[in-house]
Amino acid sequence: MRYLTAGESHGPQLTTIIEGVPAQLELLAEDVNKDLARRQGGYGRGRRMQIEKDQVQILSGVRHGKTTGAPIALVVENKDWTHWTKIMGAEPIGEEAEKEVKRKLTRPRPGHADLNGAIKYGHRDMRNVLERSSARETTVRVAAGAVAKKILASFGIKVGGHVLEIGGVKAEHVTYESVEDLQTRSEASQVRCLDEEASVKMMEAIDAAKKDGDSIGGIVEVVVENVPIGLGSYVHYDRKLDAKLAAAVMSINAFKGVEIGIGFEAAHVPGSQVHDEIIWDEQKGYTRKTNRLGGFEGGMTTGMPIVVRGVMKPIPTLYKPLQSVDIDTKEPFEASIERSDSCAVPAASVVAESVVAWEIANALLEAFGHDQMETIQENVERHQSKAREF
Ligand SMILES: Cc1cc2nc3c(=O)[nH]c(=O)nc-3n(C[C@H](O)[C@H](O)[C@H](O)COP(=O)(O)O)c2cc1C
Repeated sequence: MRYLTAGESHGPQLTTIIEGVPAQLELLAEDVNKDLARRQGGYGRGRRMQIEKDQVQILSGVRHGKTTGAPIALVVENKDWTHWTKIMGAEPIGEEAEKEVKRKLTRPRPGHADLNGAIKYGHRDMRNVLERSSARETTVRVAAGAVAKKILASFGIKVGGHVLEIGGVKAEHVTYESVEDLQTRSEASQVRCLDEEASVKMMEAIDAAKKDGDSIGGIVEVVVENVPIGLGSYVHYDRKLDAKLAAAVMSINAFKGVEIGIGFEAAHVPGSQVHDEIIWDEQKGYTRKTNRLGGFEGGMTTGMPIVVRGVMKPIPTLYKPLQSVDIDTKEPFEASIERSDSCAVPAASVVAESVVAWEIANALLEAFGHDQMETIQENVERHQSKAREF
């Protein structure tokens, strides 16, 4: 499968075209809307999220609730567009009117794409950079991820995300019975954290940062359960699924690091406490005593739950200004806010779920076929029973 996204933060709409989704998959707008709403929630989001109540329109590739195998076009309208038609319209407005458009941006915000993007593409008005580099684009990545989750669900593969840390407050002793349990409990927390005490402290940390005009980041984790053995491959660098997951998570705006399984902790512990011993029983086939490697060996899935973590930096637009330079006057100034969240880590955990789901679904279809759900299901079942007895 592949997908492209298009759309600006204050343009008329965000669009994604997804190609390669098998036919006969049940897909409703509601399946996508659920995740769009989850992305917009979470303690610490700013005013923009109150303006936008995202709803998807499915414009092609789905008929009477089922995919046809044709490209799927998904669109999410920006409700705020009506206030931006002049500033963001596609038609020329003439030099005089352009002068009236007061929102020309010549002051790059540190931590954003503004300055590098302006120099790269030759934009004297950095709105041309801001509008596309904004994390608003993750809306349609979540929409594509919802389609991927729907594919995975047909094979009993579940994807759940939660928050492990915000602004130095860590979730302690996090355990869960299953991804379903993880999902239910993270959904019940305003910061998507399974540790209730830590949730309260995280919200306090967000309040404190907001009061201080600052922002805070954190760590999110995505778990995928029931994955067949052998997705991805060891044969070539660009077939390694763990590498694809790392790239997918790193591609989320503001993500600065990715770990799989125990990740960076592997640097401090001996091999005997890193690798997962192999066991076999008739019912489950090959499994592991532990899952310290987070479901991967040799760029392929081991059948154990996939565990991926990503670290999000504090979001860069601060009410407490940071120093920058106006590109017209070259004078220093203190970067002021456009409109900003103080913490978007809970929302980012939903985006992380989506990009991970996409990579796993893609690897699954690569291994078991693309055309129609029933054939793929038969292929997966055959593979599972062969792997059990291997
Ligand atoms: C869900 C989500 C919401 C975000 N909201 C904001 C925001 O309100 N203000 C902001 O300055 N950055 C926000 N960001 C982060 C910026 O989009 C990001 O830092 C910027 O595009 C620069 O990219 P980089 O940090 O990956 O280098 C958000 C990121 C995510 C994932």
